[in-house]
Amino acid sequence: MNTDDIVRTFLDFYRERGHESITGSTLLPPPSDPVLFTTSGMHPLTPYLQGRPHPQGRRLVNLQRCLRTTDLDDIGDLTHLTVFEMLGSWSLGDYDHPQSLRWGYELLRDGFGIPREKLYVTVFGGDEQVGPDLESLHTWRELGLPVESTGDENWWSNGPVGPCGPDSEIFYWTGDGPPEGSPTTDSRWVEIWNHVHMRLERGEDGGLVPLRQVNVDTGMGLERLVSVLQGGRSVYETDLFEPWMRILPTLWVLDDHSMRVVVDHLRSSMVVIGDGVRPSNTGRGYVLRRLIRRLLTSLWRDDPSRTVSDLPVELVGRTLDHFRQSLEVDTVREVLLDEERRFSHLLERGRRVLSRPEFRGPLSEEDYLYLHDTHGLPREWVAGLLR
Ligand code: SER
Repeated sequence: MNTDDIVRTFLDFYRERGHESITGSTLLPPPSDPVLFTTSGMHPLTPYLQGRPHPQGRRLVNLQRCLRTTDLDDIGDLTHLTVFEMLGSWSLGDYDHPQSLRWGYELLRDGFGIPREKLYVTVFGGDEQVGPDLESLHTWRELGLPVESTGDENWWSNGPVGPCGPDSEIFYWTGDGPPEGSPTTDSRWVEIWNHVHMRLERGEDGGLVPLRQVNVDTGMGLERLVSVLQGGRSVYETDLFEPWMRILPTLWVLDDHSMRVVVDHLRSSMVVIGDGVRPSNTGRGYVLRRLIRRLLTSLWRDDPSRTVSDLPVELVGRTLDHFRQSLEVDTVREVLLDEERRFSHLLERGRRVLSRPEFRGPLSEEDYLYLHDTHGLPREWVAGLLR
């Protein structure tokens, strides 16, 4: 199955079960939303999970692009991406959570052909505020899947306040031999799908109150699912990343980890630019600036003459097409190049400043403040320059 087949199989499965397909929104939440980027499929649906009637009904399905900066330090490993897509299904006060678990298993088994032996599930074991999720535990046992109870790892919320609830996380065995251990004891069990019983809301005071309706919110990272189904060792060994992994190593020789960082950050930057963000020193623009500067840092470690102007048009075009973005390829390249020039000047200036005698030896808090406020050198770049 290629990525398009996988997306279609997911959407069709839920459509056949009465779900309306809703168009995923951009990475940018509406102005009233306090967060910078859409972080999950449910995010744009928050008001409907809280009880506002959705114009397309109570059963929804979609594919939503998301951006998470919380995982930034994990980027370069085999499973995390900054910008990724999430397949999601929702019951807005309609069917119950066990129904969602049963359909979930049916789709994995019959739709995607995943054998039972490769799956393991975790459920919420309870805490001082909410009891254990016995309903899910029993449902998974009835379905014949191994299941493990955990603490707050099986509690889902999108932030300190708002809709939340216990979840069931479905893991896939990625090891070479037969499955061993469990998701909490062996990291070769990789989470692929999360079914949240979204029935509570956390208020400003930290207290939990029932939502007006009991919902189900499920989310499955597309790239991870594709890598599992295509038998790749990582999200980068999929048809989605095939052009990247074919073309970039012919341009730049990098170790595997740096190559994954460069690919992730370049692709994520393109999508963010495609959604209208431009590099700046605050908010979304700063996230974009950091992504571009981090990838340049990896690129320039061995050879400072490398430049994103070598980036083939094909990669930019394919990324924009995949995310259905209408921006011109040249505009994306210009934004990247402009930021590359700025960063290069900044580093040049930074090197000159740091070569002054007063900056030999360990830097104090005051030095960092001065370098930041007077020379625009953030701490992380100073650390990089000193290395
Ligand atoms: N909200 C859950 C998640 O992001 C399921 O969609 O994992």
